[in-house]
Amino acid sequence: MDFVEQLKSSVDIVGVIGEYVRLRRSGANRYMGLCPFHQEKTPSFTVHAVHQFYKCFSCGAGGDVIKFVQEKEGVSFYEALKSLSERYGIPMPKRSTYADEDAKLRGALLSMHELAEEQFRANLQSAAGEAARVYTAKRGLAPETIELFGLGYSDRSGRALIRLFEQHHFTVAQMEQSGLVGKRQDGSLYDRFRNRLMFPIHNESGKIIGFGGRALAADDEPKYLNSPETPLYKKTNVLYNLHRAKEAMRKADRVILVEGYMDAIGVTAAGFLNVVASCGTALTDKQVQALKRHTHNILVNFDPDSAGRSASERNTSILVDPSDPGMAQAPHERGRASPTALLVSESMHIRVVELEGGLDPDEFCKVHGADAYAARIENAKGYFYWLADRARARHDTRTSDGRVAVLEFLLPKVQRINDPLERMAIANDVAGYIGVSAGMVLDRFRKAANERTEKTIERPRSPLRHDERMLLTALLTDAELRGELIGGMKELETIETLPSRRIFQAIFALDDAGGRVGFDEVNARLEEADQNLLAQAVLNDDGELSRDEVMAALASLRRTEEQNRRVQLKARIAELERSGKFDEALRLTVELQGLERTSSPRRGAI
Ligand code: UTP
Ligand code: MN
Repeated sequence: MDFVEQLKSSVDIVGVIGEYVRLRRSGANRYMGLCPFHQEKTPSFTVHAVHQFYKCFSCGAGGDVIKFVQEKEGVSFYEALKSLSERYGIPMPKRSTYADEDAKLRGALLSMHELAEEQFRANLQSAAGEAARVYTAKRGLAPETIELFGLGYSDRSGRALIRLFEQHHFTVAQMEQSGLVGKRQDGSLYDRFRNRLMFPIHNESGKIIGFGGRALAADDEPKYLNSPETPLYKKTNVLYNLHRAKEAMRKADRVILVEGYMDAIGVTAAGFLNVVASCGTALTDKQVQALKRHTHNILVNFDPDSAGRSASERNTSILVDPSDPGMAQAPHERGRASPTALLVSESMHIRVVELEGGLDPDEFCKVHGADAYAARIENAKGYFYWLADRARARHDTRTSDGRVAVLEFLLPKVQRINDPLERMAIANDVAGYIGVSAGMVLDRFRKAANERTEKTIERPRSPLRHDERMLLTALLTDAELRGELIGGMKELETIETLPSRRIFQAIFALDDAGGRVGFDEVNARLEEADQNLLAQAVLNDDGELSRDEVMAALASLRRTEEQNRRVQLKARIAELERSGKFDEALRLTVELQGLERTSSPRRGAI
């Protein structure tokens, strides 16, 4: 067994994928969940525990556990092997042939980030770090918080990192791709970060992939300088602090979403570990999916001004659609839904944390303390109540016109809730809250419902016949049954007419060659369309195969074979009669009658 096979057989794919996707058992060996590779509302992502593969019937993503880690973590084949082997304690062969250029580059970039972090941390404690230490003290950052978040300082020299990288023999190309080093017109290199308080940014598995650097002086622009996009760092995929927060998020079954590095740090230091920061960008699909893997309950705690802040400022308002009345609209955002719409349609339960006094979460925790913050969290309003309050502030709800206006504002947002029951419940709550009758809400909903087509649950539907599926599954899972079945099956011409014929042929060929006949081996011999068929066939199996069922499936296929034979005979007889060959036609007619007598016991029984 080569290393890849060995690894795959020791790794539980359901466990690995379960760390990223909430999987529910949906068959004996089958699990389903929301696909992590595209946005969907009803699960079509399936994992098979025995055959150890995954497949999304919506977007087509599929493969084995290594492919999953590759795609999910955005790493190379080699790195996926490495990460799985580390996680499962299976030693990798020393001089691995799997290392490729891409993996080497990523490996180099990761080491450079680790080295950079070490240097920044050391700088902060050194003489050069004096001003930065004064700054962290002024911001109330305790030594253990600085340690936990790996904060550091990039010195003024503009050469320190380059020198370090040169000592470690990194190439100029690697330095440039790290995003930590810039290149002047004349070709000379310089450190990207100078005289800044450094915040390492990690991916979900805790590797440093980038940095944010805060200016120490108020007039130093920009306030934060961040790593550019690199092979490691994709800004829109990252949530700051997720790797530290995810366990607490699962435990508490909720996450606090804040805007800034300092907020995530301040809130953590106050004892709330389940906090992540969006870092000043609008929330993306990928980030929502990343949150959803750990919890569906989100407490949005953005800066007090950001909800109403003009969209031309750096942050897209997360809570309100830019197109809503009263909201400033940047031209590029006109008509676009807010990220909250994304959260709502993704069935996240949103509550809005409000802090008084114009304080951001970091400042609030420092000024009022952890207990006060905990109280704000507990009192956080449901998103729709929060929205209703905002709308009520703009209309006179003592008049029925005003109340209707508020309702009109809210309903389109309520409509985004995918679950019809929940949608109705929220609509009723909201109606009660703003003082309109439930009847009026129902009325509007009925109108909207006419325009709305409900999405039905997507399940893997196999285009294959039941007997085909049973036989395929039996051939792939039960060596003993395979021995019994395969000889007879090879002789059936009907197999050539089945949609799954190429899968059977692959099985037969492997069997003839005396090789192992497993899912992977067969799958590897197939074109993509047939791989899909195979996945569907295997994923449709619910429960244990019984020998009787399999034999019944074979018998069913035999009946089809005979049926086909009769159809062929009839056609041949008709043809012979047309061309006047009556003797030959009669001979075949006798054969046909014989066939019908033996093959139709049911008819004989009547
Ligand atoms: P804030 O201005 O709220 O920063 O921006 P903060 O984290 O609270 O920091 P302090 O308390 O002012 O020191 C929120 C986030 O937006 C991103 C950063 O990720 C920041 O944490 N940002 C902000 C930038 O990327 N660049 C900027 O120039 C400003
Ligand atoms: Mn702040």
